[in-house]
Amino acid sequence: MVMRYIRIFDTTLRDGEQMAGVALTPEDKLEIAKQLDELGVDTIEAGFAIVSEGEREAIRSIVKEGLKAEICSLARANKKDIDAAISCDVGCIHTFIATSDIHLKYKLRMSREEALRRAVEAVEYAKAHGVTVEFSAEDATRSDFSYLKEVFLAVEDAGADRIDVPDTVGIATPERMKLLISDVTSYLKVPVSVHCHNDFGLATANSLAGIEAGASQAHVTVNGIGERAGNASLEEVVMALQNLYGFKTGIRTEKIYEVSRLVRRLTGVPIQPNKAIVGDNAFSHEAGIHVHGILSNPFTYEPISPESVGRKRVIEVGKHAGKHGLRAKLEEYGIHPTEEEMKVIFERFKRLSDRGKRLTDTDLLAVARDVVGGLKAEKFVSLEELAVMTGSNVVPTASVKMSIGGKVMVASETGVGPVDAAVKAIRSLTSNLIKAELREFRLEAITGGSDALGEALVRLEDEEGNISSARAVSGDIVMASVEALVNGINKLILKRELKKG
Ligand code: KIV
Ligand code: ZN
Repeated sequence: MVMRYIRIFDTTLRDGEQMAGVALTPEDKLEIAKQLDELGVDTIEAGFAIVSEGEREAIRSIVKEGLKAEICSLARANKKDIDAAISCDVGCIHTFIATSDIHLKYKLRMSREEALRRAVEAVEYAKAHGVTVEFSAEDATRSDFSYLKEVFLAVEDAGADRIDVPDTVGIATPERMKLLISDVTSYLKVPVSVHCHNDFGLATANSLAGIEAGASQAHVTVNGIGERAGNASLEEVVMALQNLYGFKTGIRTEKIYEVSRLVRRLTGVPIQPNKAIVGDNAFSHEAGIHVHGILSNPFTYEPISPESVGRKRVIEVGKHAGKHGLRAKLEEYGIHPTEEEMKVIFERFKRLSDRGKRLTDTDLLAVARDVVGGLKAEKFVSLEELAVMTGSNVVPTASVKMSIGGKVMVASETGVGPVDAAVKAIRSLTSNLIKAELREFRLEAITGGSDALGEALVRLEDEEGNISSARAVSGDIVMASVEALVNGINKLILKRELKKG
């Protein structure tokens, strides 16, 4: 049986960017577009050309890159918007007009006949410029289905290459989406696409239902970013299509996490920890029974392997950890306690966890050191002094004094802000000791007000693939950042040292 190929139309740079508070520079957009291309999306909707000169500049620079993906601009169904898109040399124009009565009456103030005429004219006009044309009927799922059919047949006749069915306000259910797409694909000859919003948390389910019913393309955004509750997320739709439905896409799934991190960093939109595929906890295990299962066979509690989306499994050492999980964590550090020692470590660790404190690798290692003895000192690097200078007319500068393997050293660095300067100073002092990439750095306020506590999280990876994650909390965000980084470096060094034996 031939596997159905589903096109992935990525709209992170257009619908994703329309999310409140997100504004990408042309450079950011280009960086994301290159990564989307590497990821293997079929179309990159690079922006909405009519919006601004900056937007056009971004679209043009993406077109000039000569990527494998089709590059598209959004355009309302009028000549001005289409001309703006054409001026960017895109290979595809995505033109749209609303077809629901509520949009026609209150937004466009237009009759159904007028909207149909404009849709046809827009498609003909764009086609005359030799580009691929995709037509969307905005608010399709709230439109009268017989009118929608009239519009779709007319734009197909006018030369539209693909027709998209948007669930603009996310009110479809999988059952209704199936019915609608079965109907639309029964009368159209051109490929049909789905574009689902997540207002009821159904964007992924509705996209999949539409595809099951015959749509051959999904509009998605990385991390599901987009207006209001966002769009169907690329990672969820693609992984479900491939793993649950047995369909094919062009996505190199092992790059998903990298692209997700990039989009998170450049848009500043955080990802909920329990988000499918790309959330921090998506491949983390703490509960004893689960960890035991995972260690015997990962598929007991993981439906897909973390590596298939470019991630690694994390065994957490918290309150719910079991003996197997704690042993596995210690083995990561090269520590192999006997059965007897493990029993004592486990009991002591459980007693600690009952105190309600969030426990980390460092706590476990401290207990293990006490029980097993003979483990090397765990703090290779410590911060002795930190001074930062910042203000409106000064270049942010940080000076640090550190003890590194017993030797006291100092360094000063400048940065875009005091945190950046301090991080650079620490990294310059420790670079001879350890070459590590800062894979992730996050600062979050965990209480409100100007005296809020800030939490810094870092993830480091060395050239041997060892990973360490660390966090620190302080009322001073520079201190939280520095402490998290120093903890992360110590953990990484310890991991390496213990592995060497
Ligand atoms: O949600 C929507 O209807 C859109 C259209 C422009 C396709 O984003
Ligand atoms: Zn949309």
